[in-house]
Amino acid sequence: APRIVRTVAELKAVGRELLEAAAAEGREASLGLVPTMGALHEGHARLIAQARDENAVVVVTDFVNRLQFDDSADFERYPRDLEADAAIAAGAGADLIFAPEEREVYPDGRPRVLLSAGTLGERFEGASRPGHFDGMLTVVAKLLHYGMPDPATPAATTYRAYFGQKDAQQLAIVRRLVHDLDYPVTIRPVPIVRSAGGLALSSRNRFLTDEQSDAALVLSRSLFLMKQRADARLPLQPAEAVAMIESATGVELDYFEVVDPGTLEPLAFNCAETPFSGEALVLVAARVGGVRLIDNMPLTAG
Ligand code: PAJ
Repeated sequence: APRIVRTVAELKAVGRELLEAAAAEGREASLGLVPTMGALHEGHARLIAQARDENAVVVVTDFVNRLQFDDSADFERYPRDLEADAAIAAGAGADLIFAPEEREVYPDGRPRVLLSAGTLGERFEGASRPGHFDGMLTVVAKLLHYGMPDPATPAATTYRAYFGQKDAQQLAIVRRLVHDLDYPVTIRPVPIVRSAGGLALSSRNRFLTDEQSDAALVLSRSLFLMKQRADARLPLQPAEAVAMIESATGVELDYFEVVDPGTLEPLAFNCAETPFSGEALVLVAARVGGVRLIDNMPLTAG
């Protein structure tokens, strides 16, 4: 079972021990960090398993970050179950779980200085959740510091951090953090894990009734329709996907957009008429019952 630590000092000390042990065995001294808010499911397990494949040491962080919730009721009701998380993390191959108390991360309460996600954080998820991406980015910056191997630990330690493509806007923003602010870490993206029916796994799915999760399948269906068209180099005609979602009962569409995967800017060509070429990302968000769901699909002309 993975060891659970509560403080940054323990995380650094145990991380260092594990890296030194790997180096002593002649293995590459590499550390993979998997930031999570707990409530672990198969999606998180995939991130941990990929980190396991690629690194000598795997650290999962388990911390519900108040700063990225715009609604305190949503923060309070976020599922917390460290024992269940530890079992899933163990199954996927984690060595160490960092599960700090809030005062370890925010000893002075709300920090006075926050990182800004800039314009990338203003649209899509950011438009309906003001401050969300600044709060996310601030904690990710801190977690990346905590996990960063001590420069005095075995020479040439490789540092990687794992993020799911499920949260495509988050991934794009974290990549910009690393690029724009020179973080010495390699960001490793992990594809979306879906249910058999196609629903992107999320800790929020547990708040859906069976009927609502059936209704929610229209989101991934609409994305797969876009993928079929992109693979066949046909015009995407996103209006059809939008109509499909809007005709589903109990599903309230927030946005459905085809964007550039790096900048999240609208595509330069007209998706309704121009045959698809190059690369794009389709982003969708909707409310089903009281639950906000997001999903997306990277497109590449086949
Ligand atoms: P959380 O929602 O717990 O997600 C942790 C990581 O798991 C994220 O990188 C997310 O994209 C990934 N993930 C979740 N569901 C997935 C799925 N179905 N398939 C693939 N990956 C999936 O994202 C956060 O926490 C927080 O914002 C965090 C980065 C930890 C900062 O607080």
